[in-house]
Amino acid sequence: MSKVCLVDIHGIGYTAAFKVTIRAPGGIPVSSCLCTIYHNGKARVMWIDNVETTEQYRGRGWATRLMKEVLLLATELKIDSIELITNGDNLAAQRLYDGSGMERTGKQHWRRILNKWPI
Ligand SMILES: CC(C)(COP(=O)(O)OP(=O)(O)OC[C@H]1O[C@@H](n2cnc3c(N)ncnc32)[C@H](O)[C@@H]1OP(=O)(O)O)[C@@H](O)C(=O)NCCC(=O)NCCS
Repeated sequence: MSKVCLVDIHGIGYTAAFKVTIRAPGGIPVSSCLCTIYHNGKARVMWIDNVETTEQYRGRGWATRLMKEVLLLATELKIDSIELITNGDNLAAQRLYDGSGMERTGKQHWRRILNKWPI
């Protein structure tokens, strides 16, 4: 885990963001994600973002290990709900999340981009 940042929000609790990284033997980082946790007034939520395995390491179970690590961490942190989104055409990510005990919701996703960033 790296880059932990704790901020109290309006007396409700806190928010924190950190990166979780899985390393191959030799210490090479191969799969990682960003976790943001906060209390929304009812429950402790962990949002997962930027899930990525280095291209040449894909299809070898590294992201599955990453999701297991995230689940362990969420349990330790007494998180009530883990949330994430992915694109409807991202089959690898969907298999990853279905196989990691995540349930699909009927929610749709809205956003309004204020500043474009390079992909
Ligand atoms: C999605 C991603 C993180 C998966 O990482 P990974 O380390 O290859 O995943 P794993 O090897 O642990 O495999 C997880 C599941 O995805 C499946 N999978 C992996 N690559 C796949 C592909 N190209 N097509 C279809 N399924 C695939 C695996 O078979 C496995 O499913 P199974 O357990 O039912 O067999 C990786 O493809 C990636 O970094 N993609 C680009 C970034 C991205 O799209 N991130 C997700 C944003 S929400």
